[in-house]
Amino acid sequence: MTWLITGGAGYIGAHVARALVASGERAVALDDVSGGVPERLPAEVPLVRGSVLDGPLVARTLAGHRVSGVIHLAAKKQVAESVAQPLRYYEENLHGLTTLLRTVVEAGVRRFVFSSSAAVYGMPDVDLVTEHTPTVPMNPYGETKLAGEWLVRATGRAHGVNTACLRYFNVAGAAAPELADTGVSNIVPMFFDALTRGEAPQIFGDDYPTPDGTCVRDYIHVRDLAEAHVAAARAMAAGGGTAEGSDLTLNVGTGTGVSVREMATLVAEVTGLREPAPRVAPRRPGDPARVVASAERIRTELGWSPRFGVREMVASAWEGWLLRHPEAGTRRSE
Ligand code: WQD
Repeated sequence: MTWLITGGAGYIGAHVARALVASGERAVALDDVSGGVPERLPAEVPLVRGSVLDGPLVARTLAGHRVSGVIHLAAKKQVAESVAQPLRYYEENLHGLTTLLRTVVEAGVRRFVFSSSAAVYGMPDVDLVTEHTPTVPMNPYGETKLAGEWLVRATGRAHGVNTACLRYFNVAGAAAPELADTGVSNIVPMFFDALTRGEAPQIFGDDYPTPDGTCVRDYIHVRDLAEAHVAAARAMAAGGGTAEGSDLTLNVGTGTGVSVREMATLVAEVTGLREPAPRVAPRRPGDPARVVASAERIRTELGWSPRFGVREMVASAWEGWLLRHPEAGTRRSE
C-alpha cells in the first residue's frame, strides 16, 4: 500500500519515509518546504510541494498516488513561537488537520497516523507518564496537539477510520548526517551551537527536585521513532484485530530519564569539546522537572521497543552538525 507522509521532507518525516521504504512500503511526501529539505527524501519517495491547507491538492495527491493511509507530521512545533503566535499555530496545526481529515474521509482513506507530542501532558507530576496521565498542555503548541488528537479520534469513530496518535517524547539523533535536524531549538543542537561558537552551554536551572537538580527528559532516537511509525502503519494495514474506527494512542519514548547535566557531560565526551564548561542559567519558564514515558503500552500493542541509546543519538547528531558546521571540528581540544 502507499502512504502519504505530510511534512515528509522534515527532520522526522524524512526518517519515516526512509524507514517505510526500507520496510517495503510505498510512500509519497507532501511538504510545503517551509522547514523541510527535499534532498532528505529517498529517491523512491516523490515529493508533492504544497500545504495540507490546500484541500484540492491533497485530494489530487491521494487519488493520483492511490494512497490508502496517511501519516500526518506537517505542523509548527516550537513552543516559544506558539506562545507568541497562537493564531498561526491553531491555523496551521488545527485548520491544517481539519482540512486534511475532511479530504481523507472524502477520499475513503481508512488509516491515519497523527504526530502528537508529550507536550499534551504539560507538567506531569508522575515518575513515568502513561497514556492515562492527565493531559494538561501548558502552551498553544501542546494545545493544538491535544485538540488534534481529539479531532483525529472523533473523526475516526464517526467515519470508520483507524487512527493512531503517537506522542513523541524528546527526539534526537539522525540515521545519516544529511538527515540531521537543521533547527537549533532543542538541547542537543543548542549545546553544539554554543560550543561551536566557543560559548558555554547553558543549563536552564539546577534547583529542580531531581537527583542532580537539572531537568530530566526521555530522549528517543529518531530512527526508533521512525520505526514506531512503521509498526503503527503495519498494524493498521494488517487490521491488527482492530475494528474500523479504533484508535491507538501511544507514548513513543524509552522509559529512561536523562538529566540536562548528564546530557552536557555526554555532549562533551562525544564531541571532544570540553571547554567552555557548561554554565548554570536561570530556569526557563514552563519547563517541567521530569518527563519520562512509560513505554509499556507501545511495546504491548505494537511489539516496538527502542534500539538506540542517548550516546548514539548525540554521536549521530554530531556527525550531522559537522556536515553543516565543519569549523566545529577544528575546535576539539583532544
Ligand atoms: C530539554 C531540556 C531544557 C537547552 C520541547 C517541547 C516538546 C517537544 C520537544 C516538539 C529542558 C534544557 C535546553 C539548553 C538546557 N517539542 N535545556 N539548555 O523543552 O523538553 O521539549 O521539545 O515537537 O513539546 O516542549 O526540549 O530540548 O528544549 O529541552 O538546559 O540550551 O534541556 O530546560 O529541561 P523540551 P528541549
